[in-house]
Parts: sequence; C-alpha cells; structure tokens
Amino acid sequence: MINEATLVIGEQSFQFPICEGTEGERAIDIQDLRARTGYITLDPGYGNTGSCQSAITFIDGEKGILRYRGIPIEQFEQNPNFVEVAWLLIFGHLPSEQEYRAFSADLTASANLDESMKHHFEGFPRSAPPMAILSAMINALSCFHPECFELEDEEHFRVAAAGLISKVRTIAAYAYRHSIGQPYIYPDPALRYVPNFLHMLFSQPYAEHFCEPVVRDAINLVLLLHADHEQNCSTSTVRMVGSSQANLFAACAAGVCALWGPLHGGANVAVLEMLDRIHRGHISPEEYVRMAKDKDSKVRLMGFGHRVYKNFDPRARMLATVAERLLPTLGFNDPLLDIARRLEEIALEDPYFVERKLYPNVDFYSGIIMRAVGIPTNMFTVLFSIGRLPGWIAHWWEQSCTTGSKIARPRQIYTGAGITDHVPRDGR
Ligand code: SDX
Repeated sequence: MINEATLVIGEQSFQFPICEGTEGERAIDIQDLRARTGYITLDPGYGNTGSCQSAITFIDGEKGILRYRGIPIEQFEQNPNFVEVAWLLIFGHLPSEQEYRAFSADLTASANLDESMKHHFEGFPRSAPPMAILSAMINALSCFHPECFELEDEEHFRVAAAGLISKVRTIAAYAYRHSIGQPYIYPDPALRYVPNFLHMLFSQPYAEHFCEPVVRDAINLVLLLHADHEQNCSTSTVRMVGSSQANLFAACAAGVCALWGPLHGGANVAVLEMLDRIHRGHISPEEYVRMAKDKDSKVRLMGFGHRVYKNFDPRARMLATVAERLLPTLGFNDPLLDIARRLEEIALEDPYFVERKLYPNVDFYSGIIMRAVGIPTNMFTVLFSIGRLPGWIAHWWEQSCTTGSKIARPRQIYTGAGITDHVPRDGR
C-alpha cells in the first residue's frame, strides 16, 4: 500500500501523505505544499483537485455510478420520494417514519411566504429570467427569517432547511405566475410536495389542478435525480460562499447563479432549444451531429458530455426510461423525443463522441419530461434548482460542522505587469 507521494524539485525531495476514500479514491494531501516548497499547484477548472472530503455522494465517472449516502440512485426508481431523499442527503440516513412525518409537517407548515414578499415579485418585469428571481428571492428570505443567521444547533438548522426546501417551490411558482400575469396560488396544506408545487404552478382560483400519480412520480424522480452530485460547479459555489460563514440562504442563492450557466444546469433549457431548432428548422439529426463535431460551427450537442462521467450518466438512463413511459401515458406524442433518441443513436456510434467519451448527461432527457407535464422551458433550470437544493444544504451543513474548516482562498500564478509607477493624468 502506497502511503505517501514523493515530489522531487531540483535536488530536494518532499514526501506528502496520501489519503484514501471509502471506495479507494486516492489523493495526495498537499495542504502544506507551499509552506514546505514555496510552490503551489495549478489546476484551472479544478479537474484534478479535491476541495474537501465529503460523506454525502459518491460518483464513479468511469463506471457510471452515483450513490446518495451509499445508496445507488437506481434504488430510488420505485416509489420515488424527493422529500425522503432530501432528508437522507442532509441528515445522513433514511428517515424513520416519525422523522419523515415531522419533516413533511415542517415542509407543509412553512410553504407560505411572508405576504410582503409578494411585492418583490411585482417589481420584476414579466420577462425577467426566473433564475434571476429565484436567486434574488432566496436571498431575500433571509430578511424575513433572521434566525437563519444563527444555525449553530441542528434543530434550528433543520427548521431553516425545511423552510428553504418548502418555500423554494412557492418562490418558483410565484415567479412563473407573475411572468404570465396570473394570480398567485397559495400552497395547499392537504397536498404532498410535488402535487402542491404543480398546484401553485397550474391551478386557477376557480379550477384546482389535479396531479396525476404518474406525473407525481415522474417529477419526484426528476427532482431526486438532481438532488446532489458531489462537487459540481454550483455545489462547490455553495461551499465556497459558506466557507466565509455566510448564511445558508446566501450560499444557496449563489448556487442558483452558478447553476444558471448553459454549461451546467442551464443545459436542460439549451437541450430543448436545440431539439426545437432541429425540429422547426427541418435539420436532420445527422446534419446536426455533423455541426456539433465541427469546431467552427460553435455548436455543441447540448446534454452530451460530462466533466466526470466518461461513461453513461446513470441519471440520463433513468430519465430516458421515464420519458419513454410517461409521454405515451399522457398521450403526449413529442417529435422532440424522437429527435433526441435519434441524436443519441447517431452520437453513440460516432467516433468523435466515442473517442471523447461523450454520453448523454442528466440534462438530455429531463427537459422532455418537464415539457410533457406542461412546465415551460424557461422554468427547467428552476426545477433543477429545486432538485439540487437539498444537496446544497447538505454540503453547507457538512462544511459548517467540519472542525477546522477554513475560508476557501485559492492561489494564482500572476502573469501581469512587473512593478510599474503611477503617472499623473496630465503626464499620460
Ligand atoms: C451538468 O459537474 C456536474 O456534476 C454537473 C451536473 C450536475 O449534476 O451538477 O452533472 C449537471 O452540468 C451536466 C452537464 C450539462 N452541460 C451540457 O450538457 C453542455 C454540453 N456539454 C459540454 O459543454 C461539456 O461536455 C461539459 C461542459 C459538460 C464538460 O466539458 P469538459 O469535460 O470540460 O470537456 P471539454 O469542454 O474540455 O471538451 C472535451 C472535448 C472537446 O473537443 P476537443 O477539444 O478534444 O477536440 O469534447 C468536446 C470538446 O469540444 N465536447 C463536445 C461536447 N462536450 C465536449 N463536443 C460537442 N458537443 C458536446 N456536448
């Protein structure tokens, strides 16, 4: 067993300990590298750099493995329950019946926003991007819940976490209702997590939306499959912000902003726009794949590729199955699903994608499912945020409970001008 790594710099050699994870991942611990050698490492994008040790989620990108607190995600496919997975990720174990009921009761009790928050929605233009509203309103929540600034003990933390997981639906629904000029629909305490969200999105004061069980299960699965993914861009952002001891709401608001990018959570919108462009433009999938391979085209096959998965994203497989089952059940014949299937078939046999190990990722099919249940495209990444929120909360809490946790402060290699004198404006 190799327990240390040796770094040779010139005539000197330095030993650094090797740490090993549960599943045999190994890291060279370089926490005192600069102090001992005067050198730092350089790793733009952090593809080779571990920022922390975490017990929440395990990914094996080569084997297409994803486990939440050790449980393979495939085991959540039957009777998918997002609320149960949220508890598992945050508190580290599946909830007992009593814990589950108490957590559900907390979610139900905290679904409403302070009435005065509604004025904030009125201040946004109807065309405002929902992710901008979501981030702003999650941050604004801290103004109405000052207790979130003092989350020392688990009880206060649990109440704040439940409040955030519950209210994020209300914020998302109100943002949507504002964008279409329709009245806000209050949460209904008789409804479970997903049906209540769809109720706030789609009900009218005179007509209650009914959530079909097949839709309830599909959206529960979409949300839980998005619930955590170890140190992805948005979760690392939450940890970075939380490392300065900024409050939970501020950290999650920052996570929303990171997730918004089209290379990250925004990809589910980009996938639907891509499929729609192919469909409306009568572009053959074969032609589009050719464009995606041509660097000059600036076109990418959105929903394909992943920094970590160099095999199938297991979530994509599960979501493809949901799409295949849900659409016929809803009598929804979506030409975009046919295009997606064809793109996948072509790409998986094309050496360009095979050599670069580019496979469908979580975003490739999720949008087709959301579209089938009536979620507008500009709300797709908002649903990704609702799904990812428990993961962000779990990582924020894990970091804040870690003794010796330091403020994140990466180094750099400076490549700017050497020392330069200031020249007064009249001498320039
Ligand atoms: C998510 O980190 C996470 O866990 C994220 C996530 C989560 O749950 O939090 O899983 C969610 O963000 C999924 C990814 C969603 N993004 C997309 O679908 C956008 C399209 N995909 C890419 O832009 C890209 O694949 C990334 C950003 C996802 C990964 O990029 P990498 O690993 O940095 O790869 P790269 O950009 O260095 O590309 C390597 C090669 C390049 O070609 P060469 O220079 O070697 O010739 O692969 C090519 C790229 O041009 N390439 C693609 C491609 N993705 C990579 N070519 C065409 N289409 C693509 N989608």
